[in-house]
Amino acid sequence: MSAPETPPTPRDETAGDVFSGENRARLELDAKDVIARYPKPRSALLPLLHLVQSEEGFVSTAGIAFCAEQLGITTAEVTAVATFYTMYKRRPVGDYHVGVCTNPLCAVMGGDEIFAGLKEHLDVGNDETTADGKITLEHLECNAACDFAPVVMVNWEFFDDQTPESAKKLVDDLRLGKDVKPTRGPNSLCTWKQASRVLAGFDDGRAAEGPQAGAPSLAGLEVARERGWRAPEPAAAPAPADEEDAE
Ligand code: FES
Repeated sequence: MSAPETPPTPRDETAGDVFSGENRARLELDAKDVIARYPKPRSALLPLLHLVQSEEGFVSTAGIAFCAEQLGITTAEVTAVATFYTMYKRRPVGDYHVGVCTNPLCAVMGGDEIFAGLKEHLDVGNDETTADGKITLEHLECNAACDFAPVVMVNWEFFDDQTPESAKKLVDDLRLGKDVKPTRGPNSLCTWKQASRVLAGFDDGRAAEGPQAGAPSLAGLEVARERGWRAPEPAAAPAPADEEDAE
């Protein structure tokens, strides 16, 4: 008789405790801060999902219930949003989320090769985490950084012009706890949870430490400056229709 199959790991096995006691009180204050930025509470759902993700590293069932309670909406409404946007994870993510762009431009420039190489090097599949809990690997859609293809992102920070070798060194350095500097943006990386808190709107003040745009992104602007090209002035706004016309 064959051994019974191991049941699948529940998505929420580590979840829930952070939404009780003193921690809940602290989170409720943070949630209040987020909600106050919007005219209607439900408009705060996206940053609130990042906030609960910053606590557990993913959006658990308990996190969904927390968002629903804070916003006065149903858990079904929160779940619909949390499962639509891929930046919200329903399973625990490692300290570093490593995303490899495999959209066509990056793919043909080496993104597919980088992704295949990292899967083998880390011994994980897509959307899986290494046994030491350090790295979660995922292939990403276009990061709007095609002029630096192939692009890898770590916790949403850019690592431009990558190769299979540089990407392997990047993940090795992350696992060893070495200082790793993104190509643009901050001068160092924070963890996935910390990055989620920044996305919830709690700025850590580091986003503008490094360069925001590289030479390829600015090339068109340089040409326009050299040639004295300017965007046309916007057309004057039409005069508001008088009441008679509006009826
Ligand atoms: S295709 Fe990779 S960043 Fe656009």
